[in-house]
Amino acid sequence: MPETVIDVSNLVKSYSDLRAVDGISFSIKRGEVFSLLGPNGAGKTTTVEILEGVRNRTSGDVRVLNEDPEKSRTLTFKLGILPQDFSFIYNSTPKEALTFYKHTLRASGDIQEILEMVELGDKATTPFQKLSGGQKQKLGLALSLVNDPEVLFLDEPTSGLDPRARRNIWNVIKTLKERGKSILLTTHYLEEAELLADRVAIMNKGKIIDSGTPMEIVERHHEDDNLIIRGDGQVERDLAAGGFQFQRDGSYIKLRLKNIRDATSIINYLSEHKTKFEDFTLKRESLEDVFIRMVGEIEEDETE
Ligand SMILES: Nc1ncnc2c1ncn2[C@@H]1O[C@H](COP(=O)(O)OP(=O)(O)OP(=O)(O)O)[C@@H](O)[C@H]1O
Ligand SMILES: [Mg+2]
Repeated sequence: MPETVIDVSNLVKSYSDLRAVDGISFSIKRGEVFSLLGPNGAGKTTTVEILEGVRNRTSGDVRVLNEDPEKSRTLTFKLGILPQDFSFIYNSTPKEALTFYKHTLRASGDIQEILEMVELGDKATTPFQKLSGGQKQKLGLALSLVNDPEVLFLDEPTSGLDPRARRNIWNVIKTLKERGKSILLTTHYLEEAELLADRVAIMNKGKIIDSGTPMEIVERHHEDDNLIIRGDGQVERDLAAGGFQFQRDGSYIKLRLKNIRDATSIINYLSEHKTKFEDFTLKRESLEDVFIRMVGEIEEDETE
């Protein structure tokens, strides 16, 4: 059984009369990538900062590497932290930033090696403000790695980045996972969580409304699967003649499937009738599709 590295039980954080975190519980095993998902203001950053020891909690139990982050004086040395909207001192270079962190954290990491790992090797002496958005995030990630931490907190590491820069950071996170690091990742990109996270928890208004592997969550909440066929009016006529219900959407024809196996009979039917179509795909809802419905539904319920 892998060891538990983070354990959260009935965690509450109140700001005056707002319960930003409202009694959440979860745990993370060593080597796991665990993702907290939720809309703006759900309480993700508050939770992460309590685990980092940056904020105090109102009530509940929190253990990170078997220590209470509020009380421990040594935990910081074992953690890697990339804060949301990371920024750094004007004019300082990645090399200087890493040197500063290395000394502060009494670490022995090789600065150039870390810069290479996040693909900033050629930007070692570029002033912070001259780095692109993606490069700034990569510097934040590099700083979180300086002490070769066991546990990493990455709060929206790819926010606002272009798809290529985002993929670069995903590759770094995958490498860290391969090296056995435990990672708590918050993100607004559901695709990112689906790709990187072993387990996710969906937070809304301070509460965890569901958790599990991305696949388990999709299984629990998805609506019907769809068969999407690209084809012309003849395809529609033949489908109608066969009694199939469908919707036209641009060059696509969409059929909702009660059972994913029904796709076979529809395609067989079209083949038997020698109906010509361009191609077809089978689409199950993604984590993003079910996430939007789950978070939306809760808000609607509350307005009743
Ligand atoms: N220091 C603070 N004082 C008062 N309210 C706060 C404070 N920090 C956060 N909040 C409130 O707590 C709630 C949760 O904020 P938090 O930053 O944890 O959300 P989040 O899930 O990280 O959101 P985002 O996706 O926008 O980063 C929000 O309503 C926010 O306004
Ligand atoms: Mg946040």
